[in-house]
Amino acid sequence: MTESPPARIFADPAEACRTLAAELVELVTAINASDRPAVLGLATGRTPLPFYAELIRLHRAGELSFAQVITFNLDEYLGLPAGHPESYHSFMRRELFDHVDIPVENVHIPDGMVAPENLAAHCAAYEDAIRAAGGIDFQLLGIGRTGHIGFNEPGSPRDSRTREIELDPITRQDAAPSFGGLDQVPTHAISMGCGTILEARKIALLAWGSGKAAIVKEALTGPISDRVSASFLQEHGDATFYLDAEAGSAL
Ligand code: PGA
Repeated sequence: MTESPPARIFADPAEACRTLAAELVELVTAINASDRPAVLGLATGRTPLPFYAELIRLHRAGELSFAQVITFNLDEYLGLPAGHPESYHSFMRRELFDHVDIPVENVHIPDGMVAPENLAAHCAAYEDAIRAAGGIDFQLLGIGRTGHIGFNEPGSPRDSRTREIELDPITRQDAAPSFGGLDQVPTHAISMGCGTILEARKIALLAWGSGKAAIVKEALTGPISDRVSASFLQEHGDATFYLDAEAGSAL
């Protein structure tokens, strides 16, 4: 596949999230009806917040159950204990898992406190767990200003797998306000690789705001290159960009 993924442009993030959440309800319902759990790849950051709020609303309205859902998060900061307020473990509990009926054993997030000598085995076990669950049915993505998906910073190969990665200075700068200063931002993370992400059967990348317009355009229409890991989505076949008007303004 060399066709660019479709870009769907909405008036605002709320409308984009309502649309995608309704599509996800259909997908989870259809997969559960075939008597297997739905496997979702989940993302963190500011971007998915309105999406998770909509999933919680649908759950409370009785339209979406997570009882037969298995999740794998894209990434976690290295060196942050799960209980740290900025860890992605904390984020996911706060923004989604504490508010829905997902069985705790169905949740997977890389362990940011894994000892260096166990890191490679931990990453391999994460890949094994995704495979054992049957692969990812639906992968949610944001996009960083470096073009990263997950924490696949520039230079991440197309076939990379879950591994340790050094965060780009731009990514650390963008995270500095929530950490209360650049020196508080971890320097490394564990992230699913580009290859891991691209194996998901269906992918939705969300982006809001004018600050993302240039990188969205590059990811969708620029050369397919490890300089912008989101550009690999051009070759996926079932990846869609859900944008607000500002994020889509350069297209
Ligand atoms: P953001 O981060 O959602 O906080 O903008 C996106 C990303 O880095 O993938």
